[in-house]
Amino acid sequence: MTLKKSDFPADFAWGAATAAYQIEGAVGEDGRAPSIWDTFSHTPGKTLGGDTGDVACDHYHRWEHDLDLMQRLGLNAYRYSLAWPRIVPDGRGRINVKGLDFYERLTDGLLARGIDPYVTLYHWDLPQALQDAGGWVSRDTAHAFAEYAQVVAGRLGDRVKGWITHNEPWCAAFLGNLMGIHAPGLHDLETALKVSHHLLLSHGLATQAIRAGVPGARVGITLILGPQQPASERPEDLAAARRGDGFLNRWFLDPLYGRGYPQDMLELYRPHAPGFEATIRPGDLETIAAPTDFLGVNYYQRSVVADAPGEMGILGTRQVRQPGEYTAFDWEVYPDGLRQVLTRAHQDYAPPLIYVTENGAAYADTVSPDGSVHDEARRRYIEHHLIACREATLQGVPLGGYFAWSLLDNFEWGEGYDKRFGLVRVDYDTQRRTVKDSGAWYGRLSRGEG
Ligand code: FCB
Repeated sequence: MTLKKSDFPADFAWGAATAAYQIEGAVGEDGRAPSIWDTFSHTPGKTLGGDTGDVACDHYHRWEHDLDLMQRLGLNAYRYSLAWPRIVPDGRGRINVKGLDFYERLTDGLLARGIDPYVTLYHWDLPQALQDAGGWVSRDTAHAFAEYAQVVAGRLGDRVKGWITHNEPWCAAFLGNLMGIHAPGLHDLETALKVSHHLLLSHGLATQAIRAGVPGARVGITLILGPQQPASERPEDLAAARRGDGFLNRWFLDPLYGRGYPQDMLELYRPHAPGFEATIRPGDLETIAAPTDFLGVNYYQRSVVADAPGEMGILGTRQVRQPGEYTAFDWEVYPDGLRQVLTRAHQDYAPPLIYVTENGAAYADTVSPDGSVHDEARRRYIEHHLIACREATLQGVPLGGYFAWSLLDNFEWGEGYDKRFGLVRVDYDTQRRTVKDSGAWYGRLSRGEG
């Protein structure tokens, strides 16, 4: 099947996504204070090669050029995140006007180029000052987030097409506080669960704050979702897949859509995190379940899950590697999983609109002698996932857009600069940008020249 722009709704968002700490650099400029990712990446042994976001893609200085690039490609939407520590450096209180000014220039620059701004308020860069006061374990942080959301909405509210409160609270909570591979690098289940609750609570509070400040604002949240398929029909494997689903998907979807935390997961966690449930106060679940305008779905891979007592901590699961194609991240290429998570979100939770807010692949790109990057594998990856999106729309999913991860090669968290996800290559020595074949193809598709 050959994809065409007209296979999608006329107002479909053809976008690309980035995140502040992964591209901006300029970490000490214009009043920005450190975030937990500055601290984490500067701690020896935490990121591959000791890489940090100090310079990254230098987007803070090169943003106009990057916006021009997007315009030339033909994208009509851009999802970017705001760095909380640029805007409220101490996490609470004093506002750094220069930080707001930067995001205002960026947002206006998008609008001037006919590109709709989709803003993520939290893509993992918590102000270090708040971490020092307890971080997301502390309920106060949820209130601080709502204050920050209010400030930003006050300044940019009339110009933002979609507000995404959080990016992948699963990663922030569990990779950061249980597996320790993301900032702040902790290893404690009860901490991770409390963090997840306060992230969700802060989403609800921020949603209220944005709506109060901006009538008609469109607000949502982005989750990472992945099908959890049983490795066999054995009852043990079916139960294991269900636990995997509870861990990654239902733990966030259920409370957001008014069902509270899944009982099976509460029971699994309770003996190992006896203090967790006391953090849920009366009214919290109602706040979390405040209606939203859309759900953002980030999709990268599925899991095929077998029962494995003692593995993956208390989950007792093991992922069974499937034959097939893998990306440089060793993530399986499984486009139908995107159709599956979209239809599942639609059928089980019925958000009014869904966006694919991230999808993409890392490959070991090579630069040809003429300077071009022939990344056919990435092009095919995006094409097949867009076909999965189209199938989902044919099955009734109200899909509003697709944001490729990522516009630029960038700082891939614990993997440093080793993993390249961009539609556009970044030469980190010169900061030169080169549109890869995948980016040129995606641009043609979004322009209707498919
Ligand atoms: C997602 C993150 C994004 C990027 C991609 C590869 O989990 O949201 O920042 O790292 O993975």
